[in-house]
Amino acid sequence: MTTTKLWGGRFTAKAEEWVDEFGASIHFDQQMAAEDIEGSIAHAKMLGKQGIIASSESEQIIAGLKALQKELEQGDLIFDVKNEDIHMNIESLLTKKIGTVAGKLHTARSRNDQVATDFHLWVKHRLPEVLNVLTELQQTLLALATKHAGTIMSGYTHLQHAQPITYGHYLLAYFEMIQRDYERFQFNQKHTDLSPLGSAALAGTTFPIDREFVAEELGFSDIYHNSLDAVSDRDFALEFLSNASILMMHLSRMAEEMILWSTYEFNYIELSDDFSTGSSIMPQKKNADFAELVRGKTGRTYGSLMALLTTMKSLPLAYNKDMQEDKEQVFDVMDTVIASIKIFSGMLSGLTVHEARMLASTQDDFSNATELADYLATKGVPFRQAHAIVGQLVLEGIQQHVPLQKMSLAVLQSAAPEIEDDIYQVLQSETAVNRRTSISGTAVENVKKEILRHKAMLEVR
Ligand code: ARG
Repeated sequence: MTTTKLWGGRFTAKAEEWVDEFGASIHFDQQMAAEDIEGSIAHAKMLGKQGIIASSESEQIIAGLKALQKELEQGDLIFDVKNEDIHMNIESLLTKKIGTVAGKLHTARSRNDQVATDFHLWVKHRLPEVLNVLTELQQTLLALATKHAGTIMSGYTHLQHAQPITYGHYLLAYFEMIQRDYERFQFNQKHTDLSPLGSAALAGTTFPIDREFVAEELGFSDIYHNSLDAVSDRDFALEFLSNASILMMHLSRMAEEMILWSTYEFNYIELSDDFSTGSSIMPQKKNADFAELVRGKTGRTYGSLMALLTTMKSLPLAYNKDMQEDKEQVFDVMDTVIASIKIFSGMLSGLTVHEARMLASTQDDFSNATELADYLATKGVPFRQAHAIVGQLVLEGIQQHVPLQKMSLAVLQSAAPEIEDDIYQVLQSETAVNRRTSISGTAVENVKKEILRHKAMLEVR
């Protein structure tokens, strides 16, 4: 079976149905139906205002489009793969509704600037939701950090105990990452907020159109100033995918820690029941499935970025059908990031923190070795020498299963006579944390100050 096309005039032979299906995008670009109708209403208004079509025709078209808008909201619009994409589906539905006058809508327009407009609008409409859920996540992080500004735990490098920190300080590290993500998505809005409509197929149009008027109608802040760029630019989509990839990288790092830290071996945290799953065979299991899924979906997000970058690579100007591959990636990643951010807020809100266990992890290890080396350095021992002395003590401690703070003063002094009995205070993890008052350091007073600074920032957001 073959079909008749809106663009079929210069064709004699018709493609088979399966070939048409390969070229079609309606199964996914119907997600942009609302934006397509919105763009067409603005265009029709402009055509009437400029006298390019009669105002009565413009009114008829707009009334028809508004009726389609209603049907769309009610879920009554039925799309047909024979009409290839959302643009031709809407035009064909409009023709059914108001007759041949619908054919005037496509004056001074091409599907190339139309698809670009729909896609810009679609992303522009959804970026605020990304920003909102990011703000919620930041609030959740702040609330938890407030609770745990003084909760001491082991800090890691190379996943080995390094120096004690506070859990609040750790959480604020993610707050900072999410803040940068927020700013990146905010900036993403600037390049999305441009109207391509009126650039037509690639070179502009001979009709006396008013692009600024259309842009304003659609809520765009500005227009593209080069028609070739307008129809072939997908930077705003790539920026979105790239920002999403960086965000997911952050979430996946924290997900990894949540998974590890909720194991029997670490036992620092416990995820709430509503964000965990059990096993169909092992009754004791409580798995961090949702953290794992966010970690997993990070790969999927990177894949979308790589896919679109690769699609766009080497494409000659201006529009090429390859670009039809842009939307599914962005649609999918939009759902993925919004859901992942929400899952994170939920997981963090319901988290049980095993404070005693976190503190204990800093008390039977050697994460206070730097304290002793710094202590000797302030007593005039060159730091390199101090490092060697403490290294020797740590070795003995490991062999005899005695942490530094449990060694007798005589033992410590035989390694370094500069050591006095104030060392036991210095070696406590609480002291180690609270002496780190340098800007950006983990001291509880710093963490509290940072929380206030962040709260003030969120209040005026
Ligand atoms: N469905 C197409 C897309 O998503 C719309 C633009 C088609 N334009 C064209 N000249 N074939 O990219």
